Amino acid sequence: MSSAGLPSELSFGGVRPLRGRLRVPGDKSISHRAVMFAALARGRCRVEHLATGEDVAATRRAFARLGVRSNDIVGGLVVTGAGFDGLREPDDVLDCGNSGTTTRLLTGILAGQSFVSILTGDASLRARPMRRIVEPLRRMGAAIDGRDDGNQAPLVVRGRALQAIVHESQVASAQVKSCVLLAGLQADGATIVTEPVRSRDHTERMLGAFGAPIRVDGLTVVVERGGWDAFDLVVPADPSSAAFFAVGAAITPGSDLVIEDVALNPTRIGFVEVLRRMGAAIEVREREVRAGEPVGEIHVRHAPLTATTIAGAEVPAVIDEIPALAVAAAFAEGVTEIHDAAELTVKESNRIGTIHQELTQLGVGCEPLADGLVIRGGAPRASKLKSHGDHRIAMAVAIAANAIDGESAVRGWRAVGSSYPEFHEHLALVTGA
Ligand code: S3P
Repeated sequence: MSSAGLPSELSFGGVRPLRGRLRVPGDKSISHRAVMFAALARGRCRVEHLATGEDVAATRRAFARLGVRSNDIVGGLVVTGAGFDGLREPDDVLDCGNSGTTTRLLTGILAGQSFVSILTGDASLRARPMRRIVEPLRRMGAAIDGRDDGNQAPLVVRGRALQAIVHESQVASAQVKSCVLLAGLQADGATIVTEPVRSRDHTERMLGAFGAPIRVDGLTVVVERGGWDAFDLVVPADPSSAAFFAVGAAITPGSDLVIEDVALNPTRIGFVEVLRRMGAAIEVREREVRAGEPVGEIHVRHAPLTATTIAGAEVPAVIDEIPALAVAAAFAEGVTEIHDAAELTVKESNRIGTIHQELTQLGVGCEPLADGLVIRGGAPRASKLKSHGDHRIAMAVAIAANAIDGESAVRGWRAVGSSYPEFHEHLALVTGA
């Protein structure tokens, strides 16, 4: 599904509880990696329940341009990987759309190839910082150019034989970590990446489960040159998508919702702990481990919420869920503070600014900080809301609108196409709308 068939505006008519069971689309981070790691594996891989949005479609198109053979199956694909040697020079620019993960991980892969590639994307992507990956890749020997001395796409990557490096990342970023590790898997020597606080660790878990030469020691990851075996994977559902429904159920009276088969990786479900602290009735039941990832269900019922503080080492585990958690804070009693989250300013929109604007529009007291927000919970009122071209802002304000008496609307709805084009259908399913 793409954003082409989506309405440009979504309307809401009052409070509707979220009830029943729901399986949201496959996790976006795991889906990107599943497509990439299948393309680079030795042999035929089957990947099912892939994320349905445009971001992962951009990764799939990029690998098709790089000469990787794949066939679509219902909800996924079969890919025949041929290792790092199986890629060929793309005959056109690789369009990564709105997807930072596609751009940054792919640049790490292409840095070690023996050909030239050019990566670009939409206006939001072209404004996002790339020095954080270009600097370590240049130190490994890659030749990369781009606007602002390589800080902004379009990026021109002239792949080279790479040397291992020790990289101490200044930001807790899974995209930076994964980029350097994917280059390191093609380099001479042992590449060592350390991060200040643990970011999502899907690359380490998945590659480890598939047999790649990778090991983790605390906040440090080490890789050596090498490949991995073919694999089959049913991608677990996306906890970041689940978070909108979890917050929706927590704030909407009468709700009782089970979200099924969700990735429960601890670096991704910080929002569960935050909601629990706020007084939400939320339970997590782990069912199995798949490709190194714990998977299970999340059960949420409505309960009154109280304010909390989100800061420090917890932030990377909730970074994509802050738009949803800000909505929870808007409905909670008391003053919620979010600190140490300056990374929000370089996401698909400047989320400190866009959350501030939308909560203000809802009549909620909200103060933007350089590294976070202060939110005075109250009684949000029906309003005309906007996505600002950011999928997560669109879904966050939609779950707010669904919990408010009166008529609201969300403009710029097509932005949800990046990660969750069927969100409005799923919301209608669980609200009986
Ligand atoms: C992602 C990592 C995070 C996250 C993004 C997806 C990934 O970004 O915000 O939505 O799949 O590696 P950073 O690594 O830049 O923090």
